[in-house]
Parts: sequence; structure tokens; C-alpha cells
Amino acid sequence: MDKLRKKYFEACADEWDKSFTAEDYEILSFLIDSFNISKKAKIADLGCGTGIMFDMLRRKVGSDGMIVGVDFSGRMVKKARQNFPFDNVYEVDGDVEDLPLQSGSFDMAISFAAFAHFTNQKKVMEEASRILKQGGKFHIIHLSGSKELVEFHQQVGGPVAQDHLPADADMMKLFEHGHFLDVKIQDHPGLYLASATKG
Ligand SMILES: C[S@@+](CC[C@H](N)C(=O)[O-])C[C@H]1O[C@@H](n2cnc3c(N)ncnc32)[C@H](O)[C@@H]1O
Repeated sequence: MDKLRKKYFEACADEWDKSFTAEDYEILSFLIDSFNISKKAKIADLGCGTGIMFDMLRRKVGSDGMIVGVDFSGRMVKKARQNFPFDNVYEVDGDVEDLPLQSGSFDMAISFAAFAHFTNQKKVMEEASRILKQGGKFHIIHLSGSKELVEFHQQVGGPVAQDHLPADADMMKLFEHGHFLDVKIQDHPGLYLASATKG
């Protein structure tokens, strides 16, 4: 666990919801539509923050499905609980590098605007793979390309100044390490989307 990053995100929690634009919601909603999420699916949101994706995902999985958001910032988790007090949405204060979730129990894992901030991305890949069922999907989303993201984090500075996404070849290796198949990476201005299927 990276204490400096955790402290940084704790301090962002109260104002975090204000950081999204209507366009962000629209693109995110379009992407989630494209994932063909089935009713009853169980989805883990890794680095869920205040739960921006929860309502979109909840509508997809229906009342028999389940959303579990994990974040190591207790304040983010608290806000997410306040924002989305639904029966089938659970917010867990935990580290995505050591997920407090059962193996082979999820149909999908999604990490939005968070993967670049994970200190040990290899471990997160292992953990995402562990909790997914065979055939489960892992989607890593950022609403900017990897180059823009580097510039953005440098501008933000502090503990996230160096946070970045792996180069495509390294991301492929990470997915291979997690026994993922059918890896697809899109990386262009405005969108980074890496998706794969657990083999
Ligand atoms: C940029 S925010 C994105 C939050 C949310 N997905 C959103 O888009 O609103 C990154 C989140 O990842 C969380 N995070 C970073 N490293 C983590 C870790 N090792 N375990 C759990 N959460 C982590 C931070 O606390 C923060 O809430």
C-alpha cells in the first residue's frame, strides 16, 4: 500500500464528484453499453472512488446482479456509500493489490481512471484474474490517452506526478501474466481502453 497516494486521494474525496463533466458521463455510459453486461452479472470496480460508475453498472446487472467497489481511501468509500445506497451495491475499504474478495466469483472487473495510480500493477492484474470467473472480462479505462495522462499527472504533481499506464507491450505482458486472452488496447487522445478475457 502506498501511504502517500492514499493520503492524496483521501484529501480529494470531498470534492471528487465535481471533477466530472457531462461529456465524461456520456462517454463512460457509451463504453459501459458496449461491454454487453448481462443481467445478474457480478462486477468489481477496482479503485471505485466515489462510485461514478455504480449507477450505470447497477442498471445493467439489474436487481439480481451485484456491484462491489473497492478503494483504499476510506473517505472515497464513505462518499460512494452515501451516493449509492442500493441493496446490491457494496463499497469495500480495501487495497486492490490484495483484494478482500472471493476467487472466481466475478463476471467482470472494471477499473476506471485508476489503473495508472496502482503502485504494483502486476499484483493488481493477478488479483483481477483471481477474482474473475473463467471467461470473465477485465476493462481498464481512462478518458485520456496514455501520453495525455502522463502530461496531466505531471501537471497535478505531488504523489501522482509520475503515475502512468504501461506501454502497450508491457500491458500485454501484464495481461499474459494474469492468464488473460484476447487482449485489445485502444490508446488515442481522449481514450485509453484495455480489455481482455480471463482464460
Ligand atoms: C483517480 S481516482 C478514480 C476514482 C474513480 N474510479 C473515479 O473515476 O471517480 C483513483 C482511485 O484509485 C484509488 N486507489 C489507488 N490505489 C489504490 C489501491 N492500491 N487500492 C485501492 N484503491 C486505490 C484511489 O483511492 C482513488 O480513489
